Amino acid sequence: MSFASRLPGALTVLFYLQCFYNVVSAQNETEILPGFGDTVQILGAMERTDQDFKDGLALDLFSPTNRTLIVKQNKSPLAAQFITGTTGEPFVALSNYSYIIQMNETANDLIAKIEIPYDPVQLNEIGVQEANTYVATLSSDKTSWVINDATRNVHRSENNTRIIKMTSLDGEYLLVGRQTVDTSNIFVQYGQGATRTVNMTGGIGTQEAEFVDGLRFSVQTNTSMTMNADIKNGINPGTLPANTQSLNSFAWVVNTSAPFMKINAQMLVPFNRNMLVALKPAGSSPSTMLTVAKRPLNATNGQFMPVNAGVQVVKELPEDRIQIPEMTQLDGQYVILVTNPKPVGQTLPASSIVGPEKKKRASHIVKYV
Ligand SMILES: *[C@@H]1O[C@H](CO)[C@@H](O)[C@H](O)[C@H]1NC(C)=O
Ligand SMILES: *[C@@H]1O[C@H](CO)[C@@H](O)[C@H](O)[C@H]1NC(C)=O
Ligand SMILES: *[C@@H]1O[C@H](CO)[C@@H](O)[C@H](O)[C@H]1NC(C)=O
Ligand SMILES: *[C@@H]1O[C@H](CO)[C@@H](O)[C@H](O)[C@H]1NC(C)=O
Ligand SMILES: *[C@@H]1O[C@H](CO)[C@@H](O)[C@H](O)[C@H]1NC(C)=O
Ligand SMILES: *[C@@H]1O[C@H](CO)[C@@H](O)[C@H](O)[C@H]1NC(C)=O
Ligand SMILES: *[C@@H]1O[C@H](CO)[C@@H](O)[C@H](O)[C@H]1NC(C)=O
Ligand SMILES: *[C@@H]1O[C@H](CO)[C@@H](O)[C@H](O)[C@H]1NC(C)=O
Ligand SMILES: *[C@@H]1O[C@H](CO)[C@@H](O)[C@H](O)[C@H]1NC(C)=O
Repeated sequence: MSFASRLPGALTVLFYLQCFYNVVSAQNETEILPGFGDTVQILGAMERTDQDFKDGLALDLFSPTNRTLIVKQNKSPLAAQFITGTTGEPFVALSNYSYIIQMNETANDLIAKIEIPYDPVQLNEIGVQEANTYVATLSSDKTSWVINDATRNVHRSENNTRIIKMTSLDGEYLLVGRQTVDTSNIFVQYGQGATRTVNMTGGIGTQEAEFVDGLRFSVQTNTSMTMNADIKNGINPGTLPANTQSLNSFAWVVNTSAPFMKINAQMLVPFNRNMLVALKPAGSSPSTMLTVAKRPLNATNGQFMPVNAGVQVVKELPEDRIQIPEMTQLDGQYVILVTNPKPVGQTLPASSIVGPEKKKRASHIVKYV
């Protein structure tokens, strides 16, 4: 009995000792955690280095050889609206600075992970759900923060968000959040109205938007603008170049708030492989048969002409989209042209369907067919 009655008291003392120890070791830990600019030793021989930093950043990695790294702070990072790799808006920075990680030598042989903590209370105040937090990586051309949904992971039990499956750590990273009610991928619906209007922020960075069928835009614009897209059914075969037909029964109609402003953009236009197969293309692949053509927004019976024909790229399975780089203006009506099915070996290259201004080049290509 006397032993049992003393036990709670002993436990209490133990508990206080434990608390005291925790506080002290935590203080000591804070003292020894590296900060910005400090050199951090990385273990070699694939031993785990699990390094926390003073502000909460955590790097967890395995390296074959001994290395060192430093983390620097960039207090004026590229604005967080400029996101590529995922879509939806608006994105906001959840920190006033980004991290620049520099290894002491090139290291592409790592198994690594980066974690940045967030504050759930602060997120709630600004309308960002935990599931919409990301660690974004600055693109090599420094015009966007790249997000890869396949390598992100929100660790809600620890209040942090991370990038996993990394093989190198060199780069610049920013904690960002998307202020949407929906989580994961966000797509825009065709039509008009506020929620169907894409907002593009002016600046040096690139932004992306994707419509429900996969029609995707990457845009850099110096002045903010908005964009709508719609589907218009019915195509007059007489408006298509000779020896072509439209893959779809419809055109995409894109209009922006600044139709005459010059921008830097790229489009990805989805094609339906089953519809191409239905046209019995005699063994030809999409990359030899499909071209995106365009005519002015207001045209009613003008001709559709291939847009940037020389640089279009048909991305086959699993993407099944046609990439049009080097766009300087987006307003217009767009269709996908199919060249007439030809026996194998006589297929016209997609870029050989060109406008009258490029006839010379077309005849040049035809010689090779
Ligand atoms: C803190 O760490 C230092 C050196 O690592 C050690 O000497 C000291 O006793 C620690 N302080 C406490 C209160 O544990
Ligand atoms: C790597 O560092 C450890 C100590 O951190 C040292 O014992 C080992 O010799 C180093 N390996 C090489 C190859 O320098
Ligand atoms: C990088 O750091 C490691 C560990 O200190 C060292 O062994 C290696 O020689 C360094 N590499 C370069 C290129 O300085
Ligand atoms: C950024 O700094 C400002 C002013 O110091 C502060 O009010 C704001 O809360 C900070 N934002 C974040 C995300 O830490
Ligand atoms: C996560 O944040 C919430 C709210 O601030 C807090 O109650 C909780 O203890 C935190 N969890 C961890 C593991 O830090
Ligand atoms: C564009 O901004 C408006 C006004 O802030 C908003 O209502 C709309 O949802 C935004 N568009 C998209 C596609 O998020
Ligand atoms: C696109 O055109 C529609 C209909 O003509 C119009 O209501 C809408 O405001 C336009 N969108 C933009 C971004 O200007
Ligand atoms: C946007 O502004 C930059 C810097 O002023 C300029 O170099 C660039 O040509 C502009 N882009 C367009 C498409 O006008
Ligand atoms: C299309 O027509 C409308 C009115 O008919 C006009 O306001 C608009 O500027 C035209 N757009 C283009 C790109 O010509």
